[in-house]
Amino acid sequence: MKNIPTNLLIHLANEHATPLWVYDAATIRDRISQLRAFDVIRYAQKACSNIHILSLMREAGVHVDAVSLGEIERAQRAGFSTAKSADDAAGIVYTADIFDRATLRRVVEDKVEVNVGSTDMLHQLGEVSPGHRVWLRINPGFGHGHSRKTNTGGENSKHGIWHNELRQAIELVGRYRLHLVGLHLHIGSGVDYAHLQRVCEAMTALLSELDVDFEAISAGGGLSVPYRDGDQPIDTTHYFNLWDKVRKQAENRLGHAVRLEIEPGRFLVAEAGLLLAEVRATKQMGDNHFTLVDAGFNDLMRPALYGSYHEISVISHSGRSLASVGMHPTVVAGPLCESGDVFTQRSDGIVETRNIPPAEVGDFLVFHDAGAYGASMSSNYNSRLHAAEYLIDGRASRLIRRRQTFDDLCRTESVQDMDVEAA
Ligand code: LLP
Repeated sequence: MKNIPTNLLIHLANEHATPLWVYDAATIRDRISQLRAFDVIRYAQKACSNIHILSLMREAGVHVDAVSLGEIERAQRAGFSTAKSADDAAGIVYTADIFDRATLRRVVEDKVEVNVGSTDMLHQLGEVSPGHRVWLRINPGFGHGHSRKTNTGGENSKHGIWHNELRQAIELVGRYRLHLVGLHLHIGSGVDYAHLQRVCEAMTALLSELDVDFEAISAGGGLSVPYRDGDQPIDTTHYFNLWDKVRKQAENRLGHAVRLEIEPGRFLVAEAGLLLAEVRATKQMGDNHFTLVDAGFNDLMRPALYGSYHEISVISHSGRSLASVGMHPTVVAGPLCESGDVFTQRSDGIVETRNIPPAEVGDFLVFHDAGAYGASMSSNYNSRLHAAEYLIDGRASRLIRRRQTFDDLCRTESVQDMDVEAA
């Protein structure tokens, strides 16, 4: 979304204040179209769970994954159904390694398909809901991610049913008369092509061991996106072809058609979103120049949590040309009362400088490729309000979340609220 005109961004900043999340619907639709060969695209909504983004996905024929009761609620409010749709895939699948009690109740009441990540979940669901539709999420014994924290496979990860326990899990599915929908693998987030290939091989190996019937396989998500100049985008046609072979193998074995699902979050929305912030101070601290903006890690957490890189560009508020001023090294930091509130840092927390045109107070900084795990990971730390979200979508362009108010911030701590809880 580098093509959004800067005067539009300045207008949006003036109209809705900063920090502000801005999304581009056309980019999301383009990424969806790149995955159309898969039978079902299941959006991992944790990447960006705004109800209007979910509705956009639904209208484009995308299905949805939910990892909490809150995400089930959002999906339902966006019009997704828990029932099977015409293509036989459930509108919503709940993926997790545990059931908290409230989620188990709701999953049973609303017949939400469950992608099960532990044998305890099979016992708990089987006891109260025989016949329930389940997937088995398998941990193949290895994983990969852009950071250790986003690697969801191998023995250091809590996710999925350990591959050696798959037979036992299938035995439980039979014992409780659960309905096995499919097998699911997801080894991590921000995964490069070489490691994605290994996931296909792992599914092939699993399929060759099993003598049980099911309807579908899921490739999980994890596809990396180019955050830095020179990063290679995933070739989605190649990737589909790899999985199509695995699917055909399953079909030969089972003697019927097998649905192929993919479950991306980042791939669909990362490049479709940016965070707009205003420069509020600049200072020199010894050798380091600092540019301080009005967005912090409570808004965009990825640099502070993983040392993630987001390209940063400068928009002049005064109309002065930035083309001829050259690039200057600066540390870009936020307003929080914590030294780690720095957007230019390594994963070990060492502060780095970034070369950008020198920015003045009143200029805007754009943090690019922030559509995935941006707004959805933001918090109220330092009692800062959640920023507004704006969707650019031709004539349907609009605010899709207003900025929080101080009443929103304090509402659940009000005395009246405690009385409701007690009643
Ligand atoms: N499916 C499952 C079961 C997952 O756990 C995840 C992500 C996805 C799909 C979607 O992965 P994606 O396609 O977006 O890579 N906060 C981190 C990412 C954490 C991902 C957690 N699970 C970040 O900001 O990079």
